[in-house]
Amino acid sequence: MSAAGREGAAPAGGARGSLSRLPGTVTVHTGLAGIAEAAAAWLETIAREASAASGRFRIALAGGGTPRTLYELLASAPWRRRTRWDAWEVFFGDERAIPPEAGGSNFRMARESLLSRVPIPEERVHRMEAERVDLDAAAADYAAVLTAACPPWGPARVPRLDCVLLGLGENGHTVSLFPGDPSLDVTDRWVVRSRADYAPYDRLTLTFPVLDAAAHAAFLVAGAAKGEALRGVLRGDVPAARVHPRDGELRWFLDEAAAGAL
Ligand code: 6PG
Repeated sequence: MSAAGREGAAPAGGARGSLSRLPGTVTVHTGLAGIAEAAAAWLETIAREASAASGRFRIALAGGGTPRTLYELLASAPWRRRTRWDAWEVFFGDERAIPPEAGGSNFRMARESLLSRVPIPEERVHRMEAERVDLDAAAADYAAVLTAACPPWGPARVPRLDCVLLGLGENGHTVSLFPGDPSLDVTDRWVVRSRADYAPYDRLTLTFPVLDAAAHAAFLVAGAAKGEALRGVLRGDVPAARVHPRDGELRWFLDEAAAGAL
């Protein structure tokens, strides 16, 4: 069931019909700021529920540029003060094979916009060590961190995150699951190396089993340039179309430009 959010005018006509065909719950907001406000309120609710149930809120952060506004909002008043950071345990959906201090590092973006500004204990921030020469070993080590920190879900005992934040690339990739890459078909490992179609090419990424085991997953999508990727999700022929939380919630936080381009 989809519903255009109250904030911002849902696009008229065909776009609204297409929106309702996206899987899960779709809300449309005014720009990155509107997406950030809505996603922050949503995170507050699911984090409170997770913390009450287990004492932890296990979240995988998205990389790229779209989430930065959300992270900066969470690190500022009033959200910084009202969030129970002591319950948060932070993971990453993917990382580029570059040093953590490099400009394109997803960890660096999260550290600058959020992690350096809120009191999450360092031992509960789990960086993907994608700068290591042996990416396969780095992937296996990160999978072990996930497995140790998260409750198992289903017969395959997939590590279950409380929340996965996701971006959407213009070619329909998400995390670092890119069209045509063998990582798309991995069902027995939780973290693998993958290959992007833009630099930095080598990546580490969560696999679909982990995304699908999450209690809550949310795409943050802004800009008309994502219209074709959204149409690919509707057609089912892009990697992002394969995200299906098995017994979890899927949300789409779109801005009006992305929704209008659908
Ligand atoms: C990455 C990201 C990637 C990102 C999309 C969207 O490392 O590139 O994890 O999956 O979320 O490319 O990026 P934007 O939000 O910058 O459009």
